[in-house]
This record gives sequence, C-alpha cells and structure tokens, in this order.
Amino acid sequence: MRINDFPTELCPSCFTVLESFSGCTVCGYPCVKREPHHLPIGYILSDCYWIGRILGEGGFGIVYHAYDLNIRHSIAIKEYFPRGICSRRDYSVRPMTDFDEDFNRGRERFLIEGRNMAEFENEPNIVAVRNYFDANGTAFLVMKYYNGSTLLEHIKSKEGGRCTFKEAAEYLFPVMRALDVIHSRGFFHRDVSPDNIFLAKENKEDKKGESILLDFGTAKSVFSDKTRKSMTGIVVKEGYSPLEQYGQGGANMGPWSDVYSMGATLYKLLTGKTPPMPLERCDKEILPPSAQGADVPPHVDSALLCALNLQAAERFQSMAAFREALEGKRESQAKFPDIQSFSQPQQVSPPSHSSSGWLLRFLLIAGIGLLGTAFYLWWQYNH
Ligand SMILES: Nc1ncnc2c1ncn2[C@@H]1O[C@H](COP(=O)(O)OP(=O)(O)O)[C@@H](O)[C@H]1O
Ligand SMILES: [Mg+2]
Repeated sequence: MRINDFPTELCPSCFTVLESFSGCTVCGYPCVKREPHHLPIGYILSDCYWIGRILGEGGFGIVYHAYDLNIRHSIAIKEYFPRGICSRRDYSVRPMTDFDEDFNRGRERFLIEGRNMAEFENEPNIVAVRNYFDANGTAFLVMKYYNGSTLLEHIKSKEGGRCTFKEAAEYLFPVMRALDVIHSRGFFHRDVSPDNIFLAKENKEDKKGESILLDFGTAKSVFSDKTRKSMTGIVVKEGYSPLEQYGQGGANMGPWSDVYSMGATLYKLLTGKTPPMPLERCDKEILPPSAQGADVPPHVDSALLCALNLQAAERFQSMAAFREALEGKRESQAKFPDIQSFSQPQQVSPPSHSSSGWLLRFLLIAGIGLLGTAFYLWWQYNH
C-alpha cells in the first residue's frame, strides 16, 4: 500500500485536482480533521482507490467517497469496521482480544454479502456493487456513488418530519418490488429502515430522486451473544427490527421479517414516529397511522398494522402481498382490534336482546322460583 504518492492532491469530495488542499475552491468542501480510526484522506487502497471524505459511518462499517484511479470515476467504498470489537493500527484493522472469532466470521459474511449484492446489478433500486475484496486485515465493498440523501434525512427536513401516503408510496413501492426480487432468489435484507434507503438524485434540479436500497444486514446476524451485547443497538435497529431478529442466528427469519421492517419504515414516513420496539409493545397494539394524524384510508391502516404484527405468521408473508394490500387490491390477512376504537371514543353498546339473553334470564327467574317453593314446603313441613 502506498500513501499519498499519487502525484497530485485531490479534493476529498469532488476529486478536482488541486495544488494543495486547505478547503476546495471548486465545491467548497472544507478542510476537516479526520478521526484516528478512519483511513486518512489521500490514502491509496489496493493501488487503485484514492480515499476521500466520509459519507457515513454506522456501527458496522465506514463508508468513504473515493476515486477509482483506473476508471477515473468517483465511487463509494464501505470498509468492514464493526465498532467496539476492532481497532486500527498502521492502516490495518485488527480484532480486539476475545473478539477475533466473531470479527473473522463477520468479515467473511461481509464478503458473501458483497457477492450476493453484486448479483442484483440489473436491479435499478438496489445499490450497484462494483467490487469486493479483503485487504488491510479487513474487507471492502466498492459501490456506485449516489448523490443525494437518505430517506431519513429527507423526511426530517419536511414539515412535521413526515409525508403523505402518495409520496411515501412513490419512495417505497420500487424498493418493495426490489425486495421481492431479493426474496425470490432466497435472500433477505434484514435491515430495511429509512436510513438504509437512499434518494439518489441525478442533479440539483432532480426534486424526486430514485430510491436505492443500501446496506444488507446479513453479516450482523453472525455475531455471538457476547458480541451482540457489546454492540447493542447495532445488530438490531430499534423500532425497525422484528421480534424474531432479537435472537442469535435469526431463527424464523424470512421475507416476513423484511415486511415488518418495511412496515415500520412506512409508519415513520407517515407519522414522523418510529414504532415502539417489539419488546416494549408486549400485548399492547400499536396505534394506526390515522390515529397519529396521518391522512390515510382505512385499508392502509389495516395493511400497516398487519405488517407490524409481532407474530411473524400473522404478517403478510411476501412483500408483494403487503404492497397489494396498501394499494387496496387485497384484504389484510391478520385480525386486529377495531381500528376505529383507537381514533374515536369507544361507544357503549346497547344491551343485547338476543334470544340466548332472554333464555338465560328465564332460567334464572325459574330457578329462583323453584328454590323459593322448595323452601316454603320445607318450612310448612317442619312447623
Ligand atoms: N453508494 C453510496 N453512495 C452514496 N452514499 C452512500 C453509499 N453507500 C452508503 N452511503 C452513505 O453512507 C451511509 C452508511 O452506509 P450504510 O451502507 O448504510 O452503512 P452502515 O452499516 O454504516 O449503516 C448511508 O446512510 C449513506 O449516507
Ligand atoms: Mg446503514
């Protein structure tokens, strides 16, 4: 590996060639201090990728904007860097004591995830993976670089932190279709959430953007309980992960698990609120979006509550079924408490006049009469 022996300085954001870097004169990117656990700006990875600014950092990896020196194009590179169980020394990443097994297993899964994602290169709503490899003791995923923002950032910038059902459907239906393709090939995503859907924009005039699904969460599922404890809030995503994802190995997980996370994502978009975590919900039902002020038809309320059922078997078993229910093309499968009772005051039912009610009353009166007669005869006999 060589550091900074690329003959010129580049801006870490727009990769314009500069004499020296103290803030970019073209795109205005400032001169920022780098965290010690990040690869430095200008580092050349695998003799090919000039590392630029940080695009994002989660508990599991660091995403850099980078410049591919071969194809002379900007790309995004994700480095496997599970926080809390590894550290960097001399540009290399090493597992911390006692965590090497999980770190290595996670790295293997990260590369498998890369291979799986690369299979979907013709899917316009799934992040395009260009390459994956191991280097520096860790693993890297090279992706197409998208300009824009995550759905979470987008929604936060809107009034009330929410949007209409029409807008939400425009963002999410293409991703739901992409998830159907993923499921049909035997994979599932495990980490659908508003910060893992990117609104890619062609240019500044592009107001709408195209939704791109990022960040498959497969590798997160291989960690042991010990590692999971030291990475709380990372292996599962609060409010978005279904109940079955809380155990090690993710037994009973399937397309219905992505259905739950997609339901939670839509809930956030419509209400501005993240649904409560499954363990907080217990037997309490979740409030439908209309009870949270969202202007949605009843079939959307029902479909969303069905997708967010704690019981995997009660949810839609496919993303297509969920989408069709949202479009009003099919009934929701699961039974719910009367949705009206959440949004309107409960009405007291008038007394029932059913035939079984009358029969019960008749038997009660007759019983009392018989008992009275028996007591009277006994009293007469004894006196
Ligand atoms: N291909 C990409 N193009 C542009 N930005 C990206 C790309 N991939 C990831 N990012 C940015 O990096 C952030 C973190 O990426 P993600 O893959 O979700 O990793 P993490 O495991 O850290 O959540 C994203 O929310 C997004 O802002
Ligand atoms: Mg992410």
